Amino acid sequence: MENLEQLVTQATADFTAANELARLEDVKAVYLGKDGSLTALLKGLGKLPAEERKSAGAAINAAKTQIESALAARREALRIAQLAARLAAESLDITLPGRGSARGSIHPVMRTLDRIEQLFRSIGFEVADGPEIETDWHNFTALNTPANHPARSMHDTFYLLDDAGQVRHDVLLRTHTSPVQIRSMLAHVEKFRHLDTMPEIRVICTGRVYRVDSDATHSPMFHQVEGLWVGEDVSFADLKGVVADFLRRFFESDDLKVRFRPSFFPFTEPSAEIDVAFMSGPMEGRWLEIAGCGMVHPNVLRFGGIDPERYTGFAFGMGPDRLTMLRYGINDLRLFFDGDLRFLSQFQ
Ligand code: FA5
Ligand code: MG
Repeated sequence: MENLEQLVTQATADFTAANELARLEDVKAVYLGKDGSLTALLKGLGKLPAEERKSAGAAINAAKTQIESALAARREALRIAQLAARLAAESLDITLPGRGSARGSIHPVMRTLDRIEQLFRSIGFEVADGPEIETDWHNFTALNTPANHPARSMHDTFYLLDDAGQVRHDVLLRTHTSPVQIRSMLAHVEKFRHLDTMPEIRVICTGRVYRVDSDATHSPMFHQVEGLWVGEDVSFADLKGVVADFLRRFFESDDLKVRFRPSFFPFTEPSAEIDVAFMSGPMEGRWLEIAGCGMVHPNVLRFGGIDPERYTGFAFGMGPDRLTMLRYGINDLRLFFDGDLRFLSQFQ
């Protein structure tokens, strides 16, 4: 039975050498499997003479028990080792300082838009919205700018292509927020058609507009703020008062330099452009045009469904990107849209 002792010793050593559970199962098969060495010994019992069979059987079974318990012990050891390895690999070092989360900030132009909306709401204006892909009719025709009118060339328009790649003439990227004047008038008239006297329209609209334009004070995508006030006795004096008061509050300065310069727009008469002087930065003292404005042209009121004999109104279209330049003393407006974090993070 020296043989059996050797077998037990060998099996125990082989189990110890197996350092993974899967490998251990392979080794188990070598001894205890269907064709394993211990199984073969048990099968061989039948060939022994009857008087030896009993003691040989007992010895083989004893060896089998020893091998099985060595196997169980090794399995448990490997399981514990595996768990320990996992715990070590997945451990957290709770003494490390946290990574923190990156702090974003509101874009300077968005700050300006919020501020403008807030200031106009405070004097009773509603905030309206309009589509960036606009019809030619709203963007031009209803603003007293029929097809082939020379004023259309004042705006270098981005047109859209149809499926065949041809330029469409019915829709375009809006070149200004003025089409929202038309949309606001039509909606307002519809809403109050049951009244004899229409309540005043007092609305602003902020949003993106597009033109084929690029230099230090022009970007192909920029923002505008449209303002419209229509009522029974609205005058150019009201326009000047509202705009000048707004600008003083926006820039928090009573000695802001503002000028109204006579100009032309097909949709206002008379018309003006508004300039503000830089108060700081490399451009200090220089004038920058920030808006177009004027009294709403009678034809435009008619397109909006409003009787120009009874109602008058003023409108303006400001460039909030330029207001932001003035407020922070920045000399190139394209910086706002280049997405350079070194620039943008200065406004946190
Ligand atoms: C207009 O767009 C008129 N719709 C404004 C208006 C509205 C007049 C209502 C009368 C009544 P203008 O093209 O001048 O006008 O643009 C208005 C303002 O938008 C400019 O004063 C300027 O501040 C800004 N602006 C114009 N083009 C650009 C551009 N490419 N990039 C940045 N700002 C611009
Ligand atoms: Mg202009």
